[in-house]
Amino acid sequence: MRLLTRVEIQRLVAEHGREVLEHEHMQIERGCYQHGNVTTYAHSIRVACLAVWMADRARLWRRVDLKSLIRAALLHDYFLYDWHDWDDGTHRWHGFTHGGAALANAHSDFELNEIERDSIARHMFPLTPMPPRYIEGYLVTLADKLSATKETLSLDRFNKPSRPR
Ligand SMILES: [Fe+2]
Ligand SMILES: [Fe+2]
Repeated sequence: MRLLTRVEIQRLVAEHGREVLEHEHMQIERGCYQHGNVTTYAHSIRVACLAVWMADRARLWRRVDLKSLIRAALLHDYFLYDWHDWDDGTHRWHGFTHGGAALANAHSDFELNEIERDSIARHMFPLTPMPPRYIEGYLVTLADKLSATKETLSLDRFNKPSRPR
């Protein structure tokens, strides 16, 4: 079986993720920094592409639902605030709580299946106690950890442009 190219993976994400990517609330993520100088929007697309790449290279297509994997990856950080902003402390537990916040927002904006719901809610495992129930969830969790580490360690973070208001 032939392996997917980078461009093919990007096309799959654009196609299966269209409803999510075009939603007006998803545009909020374009103005929120996630790690270093990477916005949550760009981070979510990277996580989706990496998760598809891993499923492809590990030959998991008989066990993975492509569309659910892409949608869960795109929505895993759908908490819709910039967690670096100073506030009264409500985001202090961000690492522990944002899976739940992302799921609540995603649930009100989209029709989600069980795989998507579980994978979004539990993507911060092992920081949060419940492991994902589906293989798609493990792929999202792993792709997220790898992307976050790369983005945080990137030297580009020192060139953070000021956010559009
Ligand atoms: Fe997250
Ligand atoms: Fe993330």
